[in-house]
Amino acid sequence: MPNVQLTRDGAVATVTIHRPDKLNALNAATLDELEAAFQEIAGSDALQAVIVTGSGEKAFVAGADIGELAQQTPLSGKATARRGQELLGAIELFAKPVVAAVNGYALGGGCELALACHVRIASENAQFGLPEVSLGVIPGYGGTQRLARLVGRGRAIELVLTGQRIDAAEAHRIGLVNRVVPQSALLAETRKLVEAMLRNGPLAVRAALEVIRHGLEMPLAEGMVLEANAFGVLCASHDMREGLQAFLDKRKPAFQGR
Ligand code: COA
Repeated sequence: MPNVQLTRDGAVATVTIHRPDKLNALNAATLDELEAAFQEIAGSDALQAVIVTGSGEKAFVAGADIGELAQQTPLSGKATARRGQELLGAIELFAKPVVAAVNGYALGGGCELALACHVRIASENAQFGLPEVSLGVIPGYGGTQRLARLVGRGRAIELVLTGQRIDAAEAHRIGLVNRVVPQSALLAETRKLVEAMLRNGPLAVRAALEVIRHGLEMPLAEGMVLEANAFGVLCASHDMREGLQAFLDKRKPAFQGR
């Protein structure tokens, strides 16, 4: 795929948006390739987690492709927004952990892509923003909804209505990213985080992700039932017996994902 690279290292897939001459902006072809990459990862038992990053040292993704945006009519604009929402929604609900390694500009659709990932790690040079209002439109790939849910209504309204960019330190301060690391360490630190997840019982990791993600869309009492149901199902797993026995035996568990 010319615009999206999919590499595998053990159980970890890395998806790299690769349009270096356009600062990795998301055109329609890139969205299609991104979808294909995630479908491939979804279908692979060997791949257990995903890192999403941008090619080069300047940009994660500098937004939706402004050249394509300029051609939109009301109908095609709505369809484009729905297409982006659908794809980023699938990433948000992806069954395996997805961590964004934000290596530079994460603007517009790039910020929205990072918001759809489960966790965000930023390099010190990263910059975030939703500048769509400066182009006469609004974020259309879920940014208005996910940003407000992540950092709160007041901060989201400020960022979306001013269109201003914030640096990695400010993004960290307001909870937009989990942590900030030097650019040279970004992929290694992201990988360390993913590996810390993958050392645990794979069924439990998947269940926890699903319960947190879906629970956030429910009233608290229903989320509690979801949690208790998943807890009960895990009590029937080999991994649960292995995890408890390994603790009692003072050894590391050998989880099998069943
Ligand atoms: N869509 C299409 N092309 C884009 C793009 C986007 N969102 N962002 C950058 N590019 C292209 C530029 O047009 C330029 O292409 P060219 O060399 O063919 O002219 C190339 O990427 C490099 O960008 P440039 O603007 O020259 O780099 P810079 O370092 O001066 O500025 C940014 C970097 C990110 C500040 C600037 O590119 C920018 O503001 N981009 C748009 C961000 C945006 O509004 N995104 C939301 C879109 S809805």
